Amino acid sequence: MKKVGLIGCGAIGTVLAEAIEHKIVICDELVIFDLDQSKAQKLKNSMNFPVKIAETLEELLSAKTKVIVEAAGQRAVQEYYSKLLASEAELIFMSTGALLNLNLADPRIHFPAGAIGGLDALASASLAGIKEITLTSRKNPKALAKTNKEESIVYEGYAEEAAKQFPREMNVAATLALTVKPVKVKVCVVSDPAVTRNTHEIQVKWQYGEMQLRFANDPHPDNPHTSALAAWSAIKLLQKLIEN
Ligand SMILES: NC(=O)c1ccc[n+]([C@@H]2O[C@H](COP(=O)([O-])OP(=O)(O)OC[C@H]3O[C@@H](n4cnc5c(N)ncnc54)[C@H](O)[C@@H]3O)[C@@H](O)[C@H]2O)c1
Repeated sequence: MKKVGLIGCGAIGTVLAEAIEHKIVICDELVIFDLDQSKAQKLKNSMNFPVKIAETLEELLSAKTKVIVEAAGQRAVQEYYSKLLASEAELIFMSTGALLNLNLADPRIHFPAGAIGGLDALASASLAGIKEITLTSRKNPKALAKTNKEESIVYEGYAEEAAKQFPREMNVAATLALTVKPVKVKVCVVSDPAVTRNTHEIQVKWQYGEMQLRFANDPHPDNPHTSALAAWSAIKLLQKLIEN
C-alpha cells in the first residue's frame, strides 16, 4: 500500500492533496498532520479519497509513508528535522529557508524548484563557476505583509538573511542559495502596489555566458504569500518519488 504523508494543510498542502484525489499522483492513502487540527479536519472533509489524520508527528511517522511532504513552515522544519531523518521516508521540504544551515547529505532529502525553475541550468553553471547571481523579487505589498502605497525596496542583501527576514516569502532566495552554494546570491525585494503577480527575476553571469530567468506567478487565492507554481512543483517531485 503506497501512502503519502503531509505536514501542513494550508495552501500548498491543499493543492497537493487535491492532486492526489485527482490521481495526478497515484497512491492509496494520504496521512495528514497539522498543528491546527481544524485545518486537517477541513482538508479531510473536502476530499473524496482515503485520508487519515495524524494527531502528532509521531503518529504520522508511524504510518510509514513512502514520502513525507513538509508544507508547514521554517519552524516546523527546525523542530521536526531530526525525527523526519530518522524515518525511512523520502522527504520533500517546501520551507527551504530552514535548510540553509542543515546537513543535507542524506539522499532522501529533496526540495522542489518551488516558485521558480531552471535550477538544472544553475546547478550546471555552478560547477564551471558562477561569477554573479542576483534575484529580484517583486510582489504586491499584501504578499509581503506591507502597506506601502508607492514602489519600495524592502530588502537588499544576501539570500540567507532574506530567508530569515521573510520566512514565508523568500524561500525562492533560499532555494537559489542551496542550488549554487557556496556562491552568494544577491537579493532585492521590491514591494510594488502596481503588480498583482509574484515576480522573480534571476540574472546570472557565469564562466561561459549569462542567464536571465523570469517567473510571474499568480498568488495562491487562499494565501497571497505563496505562488501556485510552488505547489505544482511539489506535486511534480512527489509524482516522481512515489513512482520510483
Ligand atoms: N519553496 C518555495 O518556493 C515555496 C513557495 C511558497 C511557499 N513555500 C513555503 O511552504 C510552506 C507552506 O506554504 P503554504 O502557503 O502552504 O502555507 P500556509 O500558511 O497556507 O499553510 C501552512 C500550514 O502548516 C500548518 N503548520 C504550521 N506550523 C506547523 C507545525 N509546526 N506542524 C504542523 N503543521 C504546522 C499551519 O497550521 C497551516 O495549516 C511555507 O513555509 C512557505 O513559506 C515555499
